[in-house]
Amino acid sequence: MALEEKIQELKDLRQKAKLGGGEKRIKAQHRKGKLTARERIDLLLDEGSFEEFDMFVSHRCIDFGLDAQSYLSDGVVTGYGTIDGRLVYVFSQDFTVFGGSLSEMYAEKICKVMDKAMQVGAPIVGINDSGGARIQEGVKSLGGYAEIFKRNVLASGVVPQISAVFGPCAGGAVYSPALTDFIVMAKNSGYMFITGPKVVKTVTGEVVTEEELGGAYIHSNKSGVVHYVADDEEEGILVIRKLLSYMPQNNLEEPPLYPSSDPVERIEETLNEIVPDNPNKPYDVLDVIEAVVDNGEFLEIQDNYAQNIVIGFSKMNGAPVGIVANQPNYLAGVLDINASRKAARFVRFCDCFNIPIITFVDVPGYLPGTVQEYGGIIIHGAKLLYAYAEATVPKITIILRKAYGGAYDVMGSKHLRGDINYAWPTAEISVMGPKGAIEVLYYKEILEIKDEKEKIAFIAQKEQDYREKFATPYEAAKYGYIDDVIEPRNTRFRIIRALQMLNTKKDINPPKKHSNLPL
Ligand code: HXC
Repeated sequence: MALEEKIQELKDLRQKAKLGGGEKRIKAQHRKGKLTARERIDLLLDEGSFEEFDMFVSHRCIDFGLDAQSYLSDGVVTGYGTIDGRLVYVFSQDFTVFGGSLSEMYAEKICKVMDKAMQVGAPIVGINDSGGARIQEGVKSLGGYAEIFKRNVLASGVVPQISAVFGPCAGGAVYSPALTDFIVMAKNSGYMFITGPKVVKTVTGEVVTEEELGGAYIHSNKSGVVHYVADDEEEGILVIRKLLSYMPQNNLEEPPLYPSSDPVERIEETLNEIVPDNPNKPYDVLDVIEAVVDNGEFLEIQDNYAQNIVIGFSKMNGAPVGIVANQPNYLAGVLDINASRKAARFVRFCDCFNIPIITFVDVPGYLPGTVQEYGGIIIHGAKLLYAYAEATVPKITIILRKAYGGAYDVMGSKHLRGDINYAWPTAEISVMGPKGAIEVLYYKEILEIKDEKEKIAFIAQKEQDYREKFATPYEAAKYGYIDDVIEPRNTRFRIIRALQMLNTKKDINPPKKHSNLPL
């Protein structure tokens, strides 16, 4: 065969591979409102940057008539390319080939890119759209999954791993995304569950739809499994690109620096007005965050889950930061099980990848009661404390209003290795709020007062005295637990200066095999 013919053969084979399961199945994919595996990669990566591996791989199964049915690429497209000029490895499951189900060779393709990502030190993006283990391949596909899980675990904290769920993700297959740092799901097409509706009905008798069992609403509002729900795949892909823009390529690098058009010295007068005079009145902590960060840009994560705490990424003078903030607008910003887990994982992510953490505090304490205790608030609440204490990245904490009890300690306090701790003049730092404190300290006196009006006046006076003595930042500042009390309007430049000062911070934890985080 002449070279020209050989080249033509190569072109034909490539064309065949690019069609995956064929035109008919591609049309079916589009009819469902879904993109194909390759279209997703094209959207994700910088134009023309994709280099594909293993296009000519096909499965080795001869059972169930599969020897007569084979597709080039075998149901997953893998390789590398760039996002905003930065290297990234990618695998994208192709539902048009055996429903995107995972075979032995398919798993090997994914493992190859994961291994390369680890050697080179670059992020991995996995796009999931699959019927799970390829049934015809039996235990080989189970082994393939476990090989991927192992690599997810070894890569955790070494290179960023992001999962998109743009179709089914069922059975044990859910554990690969679960092991990655962030999961982005497309509304209406993505779902995740460990067993589908049919099995649920057989085992428990419960009748549910796929959407009710593991759709975007469930995982963003109830389970907290998904970090970002996108209206469609295009938005999901944009979010993945954005997420990566805040991250370094690996744990040995610093996050990228960007030019900033927002002046460092910007004074934000609105911040002086934000905390209401009435300490029980809520306000939106997002207003504080957006007033402080560069150009008001904040990428909030898990915005529908445990809304009493806010987490997400921003930049300060062009430098990526992770933000954690109690949300007084929701359950008064109380810390409960879900809020603790949500924020703890985020703090640990930032610490893995050298992203400084800024914490805005307005927290009345941990949520009391049987529901929380039976659910293990002790263990889950400890996770957040653990995460802050363990983190060695620069940590800057601003107490806006309440910092009561254990929650004061937990929320990035000096005692848990907070680097710079500021308070606004509106801060109230004490063992508990005035109401609870007076009821404990004066319960006998309160019981003895028979006249109701007199009782109310007594309590009000004692609360006032308590507030003046303890519910201020100055008691904490007296002991150096607060580095300074700052005017709210100056918050932006005070944080930026602190970040600049901490730029070369080095801190380490004692040598150990690994820690024993309360799980
Ligand atoms: C082989 C599969 C497959 C699978 C789908 N297909 N899943 N082939 N192994 N796991 C094939 C179908 O036979 C079909 O082939 C084509 O892919 C498209 O599937 P449809 O069913 O027509 O599509 P749809 O109606 O959209 O339904 C998608 C689906 C459904 C919900 C994913 O296919 C499904 O329930 N599949 C099985 C899911 C499952 O139980 N997987 C195992 C999970 S356990 P044809 O040729 O007819 O078009 C697991 C263990 C992992 O994964 C353990 C790791 C530790």
